[in-house]
Amino acid sequence: MANTFPDNPDPFRRDLLSWYQANRRRLPWRERPSLYGTVVSEFMLQQTQIKTALPYFERWMQTLPDFGALAAADETTVLKLWEGLGYYSRARNLHKMAQAFVALPSPPATREAWMELPGIGPYASAAIASIAQDMPVACVDGNVVRILARLTADASQFRDSASASKAFAPLADHVLNRERPGDHNQAMMELGATVCHRKSPLCTICPVREHCAGCAAGDPESYPRLEKVKFENVAISRAWCVHNGRLLLHRIPPSAKRLAGQHELPSSEHVNIPVSAPAIATKKRGITRYRITETIHRIAAPDTMSDELDWVDIDVLEKITLSGPHRRWVRELLQAD
Ligand code: ADE
Repeated sequence: MANTFPDNPDPFRRDLLSWYQANRRRLPWRERPSLYGTVVSEFMLQQTQIKTALPYFERWMQTLPDFGALAAADETTVLKLWEGLGYYSRARNLHKMAQAFVALPSPPATREAWMELPGIGPYASAAIASIAQDMPVACVDGNVVRILARLTADASQFRDSASASKAFAPLADHVLNRERPGDHNQAMMELGATVCHRKSPLCTICPVREHCAGCAAGDPESYPRLEKVKFENVAISRAWCVHNGRLLLHRIPPSAKRLAGQHELPSSEHVNIPVSAPAIATKKRGITRYRITETIHRIAAPDTMSDELDWVDIDVLEKITLSGPHRRWVRELLQAD
């Protein structure tokens, strides 16, 4: 990999840090820092934007204020607090992580020790160790890859973001400010989120443009070179069935890889949806590389029920955990009915 970055990254570090000190967003986990708050925020911020995560973070900290409270909570409470954030394995891992954490004699003291806990990989371990414990380890996420690839106008082609992160780890380490690792890492993420956008980066206001080969070459947007994700289209039919004040839902079995224990509108895998059933709504969403179109059909109450189907009183719907989009669809369709 072309490491065209200067041997002495001090001027870059200084420009980045003074910009961060003047411009950083005032976020609850920054204003009231704690090890637990850092862990919770880093779990939430993987795959979720700050603005979406904020109300969840506040609610979480009020209900489960420390590792002990989280470790002792039941899974239903944990999943309910996570409802709508998606990628629920993060919530389950965070729960398991807290249970492992409270069993330790003292908090992990190295990045490697953090990585032994459930749900903590190279990114989260570096974020937690640097932000909450001042350890000199560099974080590499998509934002950091983008900044480093542009700084060095690195034209390497990467198969996916995981291999790009791996390739840029040595450079991330080279530019890391070892005296202020937590602020440095957060400054990189902040720069990526607010200035060095994937499309149309704001180079005119960038605090480190003097250090940036991509900006000097006039084509920062062309870095990093990542292979295009190939999207796959998927069509799903779902049933809407209200009968005697109850809604028919599919309860995802505990052994399922995704969304175990949660409820969703039943799909044609779980209930017969006659071809004549009228379509009442069409919803589109993306999950990883899938582009999903879900058509919801109104059906009559089925004669036979598989044991994964539940009739749920409309009055208690708000108490059970529905995955995010299903919660929105159910609210919308109940209003329309
Ligand atoms: N993304 C993930 N962690 C973050 C943090 N601590 N600050 C800003 N963006 C982030």
